Amino acid sequence: MSAIHITGGRKLKGSLFVQGSKNAALPILAATLLTEGICILDNCPQIADVLEMIEILKELGCIIWQEEKRVYVLTPERLNTHIDKKHITSMRSSIVLLGILLRENGFVSMEYPGGCVIGERPIDMHIYGLTKMGAVFEKCENGLKASAKQLRGTDIVLKIASVGATENLILAAVKAKGCTRIYGAAKEPEIVHLCDFLRKCGAKIQGDGTEKISVEGVLELKGCGYLIPADRIVTGTYVMSALATKGSMKVNNAPAKELECVLYDLKRMGADIRWDEEGIEVYPSDKLMGISVETRVYPGFPTDLQSMMLVLMTQAEGMGYVKETIYENRFHIVEELQKMNGKLFLSQNTVSIEGPSQLQGNVVTARELRGNAALIMAGLIAEGTTTVLNCQYIKRGYEDICRDLSCLNALVYENEEG
Ligand code: EPU
Repeated sequence: MSAIHITGGRKLKGSLFVQGSKNAALPILAATLLTEGICILDNCPQIADVLEMIEILKELGCIIWQEEKRVYVLTPERLNTHIDKKHITSMRSSIVLLGILLRENGFVSMEYPGGCVIGERPIDMHIYGLTKMGAVFEKCENGLKASAKQLRGTDIVLKIASVGATENLILAAVKAKGCTRIYGAAKEPEIVHLCDFLRKCGAKIQGDGTEKISVEGVLELKGCGYLIPADRIVTGTYVMSALATKGSMKVNNAPAKELECVLYDLKRMGADIRWDEEGIEVYPSDKLMGISVETRVYPGFPTDLQSMMLVLMTQAEGMGYVKETIYENRFHIVEELQKMNGKLFLSQNTVSIEGPSQLQGNVVTARELRGNAALIMAGLIAEGTTTVLNCQYIKRGYEDICRDLSCLNALVYENEEG
């Protein structure tokens, strides 16, 4: 089991380029299964979830080779049908294979997807949409079984703007017969990146980034080259870490536009922070104030940065409030931050934070990816040494957080424990 040790109290300073986006790369890698010819994906993040997706593609018959962050995928004419359980259950993103495999193989049989334990995470929207397109799901205790003679375009209304369901339905629709209209679609940037990739391959999609997406099915998609964009959540983690340490920092290739809601909230707290197309710059901000923040679907405050906001609020003056509206169980770190002397109080789906408090180094345990990142961030501002146990989670989404933080002046290292 891996542990990360942080000696706190050092201001972050310097600059860095941020890695490619996990949540953009995963559905795009899956989408290569729909193409003929070679796809070349640049800036693919070197993280555990991407490696799992690559293993899945290989199992399905793709020939894949990698040159550092460049991944080449050559999809076979006929896909295999079996995927090892361990790859499916290791991450949430495996669910986007449903629509693709139904379209390409006419049937699918797989375990339920895994992913971080942050709530129940049902998949009813995925099943509802694919059923409307002609898939027939069988009752099956341990997994998903479905078949489809042909997927047909239709109108689908999503009652929840699910990112994964929107992606699944787009992937099912791009080579389906006729036109699919998705109402109530998710508007997250990762949807737009997936559609950009698919359009480059020859797909006909309109409306991505809005609540109504139209997909006109085409007969074939051709492989293409695509640059995976920078990761907005990793960027937000480092920007908030710099602020928490009262440091100064530049993220060079930051996707500032995708983070505007967060950046304006940070400004409301009193942060001196500036951004343009070139990147985001954080200047030393001595006095931060507590504010109220509520997680929302895009363009609202992202749930994936909620844990980092909890940590930042411990350094702000007065009361701060963080309400989680997307997941019902994403406050694992509250208890750990309390162990570090944070004054956090959880009531239903809201945490009240009284600040500022001098966090104290301690041994804390990560239970999921974003909480893991936030506990490392807490270690940066704590007095003494903090050990974060269970750091295998961080590898799912951050290429090398110790490398990045070390180049920003932090004292941090990783080893195997327990
Ligand atoms: N939901 C349903 N039914 C469904 C689908 C979703 O009730 O059929 C609910 C979920 O339970 C949740 C909410 O809708 O409460 C949002 O879920 P969504 O489907 O939008 O999330 P996701 O596609 O499973 C992606 C990201 C998450 C990110 C969410 C929200 C990937 C691989 N994952 O998950 O990222 O939190 O969107 O933005 O893209 C992470 O990177 O750490 C992470 C968890």
